[in-house]
Amino acid sequence: MPPISTHPDSVPVVSYRFGKGATSIERYLELEGYEAAKKALTMTPDAIIGEVKASNLRGRGGAGFPTGLKWSFVPKQSAKPKYVLVNGDESEPATCKDRLIFEQDPHAVIEGVIIAALSIQARMGFIYLRGEYRYLLKIMEKAVDEAYAKGFLGKNIFGSGIDFDVVTQTGAGAYEVGEESALMESLEGKRGIPRIRPPFPAVVGLYGGPTIINNAETIATVPHIFRIGAAEYAKIGTERNGGTRLFCLSGHLERPGVYELPMGYNLKKMIYEVGGGIPNGKKLKAVVPGGSSTPVLTADEIDIGMDFDQVGKAGSMLGSGGVVVLDETVCMVEFALRTMKFYRHESCGWCIPCREGTDWLEKSLTRVHNGGGVDKDIDNIRYLAENMLGRTFCPLGDAAAMPTIAFVQKFRKEFEDHLEGRGCPKHRVQEPVGV
Ligand SMILES: Cc1cc2nc3c(=O)[nH]c(=O)nc-3n(C[C@H](O)[C@H](O)[C@H](O)COP(=O)(O)O)c2cc1C
Ligand code: SF4
Repeated sequence: MPPISTHPDSVPVVSYRFGKGATSIERYLELEGYEAAKKALTMTPDAIIGEVKASNLRGRGGAGFPTGLKWSFVPKQSAKPKYVLVNGDESEPATCKDRLIFEQDPHAVIEGVIIAALSIQARMGFIYLRGEYRYLLKIMEKAVDEAYAKGFLGKNIFGSGIDFDVVTQTGAGAYEVGEESALMESLEGKRGIPRIRPPFPAVVGLYGGPTIINNAETIATVPHIFRIGAAEYAKIGTERNGGTRLFCLSGHLERPGVYELPMGYNLKKMIYEVGGGIPNGKKLKAVVPGGSSTPVLTADEIDIGMDFDQVGKAGSMLGSGGVVVLDETVCMVEFALRTMKFYRHESCGWCIPCREGTDWLEKSLTRVHNGGGVDKDIDNIRYLAENMLGRTFCPLGDAAAMPTIAFVQKFRKEFEDHLEGRGCPKHRVQEPVGV
């Protein structure tokens, strides 16, 4: 992949240093690196949180929770140590942006961790990378070593009298450990299954201490907010959605890639102008707007701004920023099946509606797709998915159910065609798809 794909509407904030050799600390310093951390060291914790709140930054991990507000939930006094934890698990299908941050600008992650730590008076931070991103560990470890050598980490950082350490870690490769509480379990060396909440991580998190956990893009954005100013950053986006977002455009597009665009950017424009439209004169059928767990939009539903509120209003979610474009040749039953195969495989198996539900959904979708389906399968698929919603221990169950409901609701005719024609009309070979 190129360091970043660009378009005249691109606004390089997070990607400001991409492709400029900023993996070296010397180059990072030339590009205004660690200035934000130095500035934060002159501020009170409340002032730091105030700046992040004023930026209207919302979490880039999926749910879009306001970052400054999350930090403000951490109690000021705590008998246990406080921690900052970077979620670099990036396992949502169609999402490949955090990886670019680690590859291109690892010091921005470290600097963001330092600022987050100052806001809650934490003395230790962790950067957790997904198992399959083991190659990025080398880049991150080198950057951490460089920061220690400069005195930006360790004892008396920047000569401030404050001590702060950073540890890097990879998972073993599981979607579920992207979920924040499962990630903490995994980091503590246990099986990656979620924890009961409340209490939330801000109060009882890693090793039982108050913990800020944020997505890698969220954390890497923080130094840029201090660099350009919270008000300027907020202005780039829409009312309650500050700044930019790294959108990962994939699927049937002339120019797929990761583009940094303002929050609220029109989805139709993103597909037809930024992504160059659909190749080979084909028509658009559907768009998954924010990673595989977000409900699909039809071609008629794409004239919307890509921020958390507008996509929510359109019945889907902005999620992780993974935009998947599907042309008219795609079989939506097959697409639903491939999606469910992923969730069935990645279900941690701890609670029944998700463990059994994803398995039954995969079986039913396979049957319909392969031509062995019966009439009631379509309603059963929807009924099963609806009964998983809100009844699972963590949101992975919802992540599997929500897109399935939308596939059946919006593309029911395709499911019916599979029953009537006894098999996928788009694939002559009646084989199960995927592994
Ligand atoms: C099954 C599942 C997988 C998740 N995977 C990720 C992930 O890979 N990266 C991530 O940042 N957040 C992921 N999340 C969301 C995290 O639980 C958490 O909300 C996020 O790290 C908070 O950071 P933010 O406020 O900066 O978005 C996942 C959630 C669920 C339920
Ligand atoms: S919903 Fe239940 S089974 Fe599925 S991943 Fe979460 S805890 Fe595990």
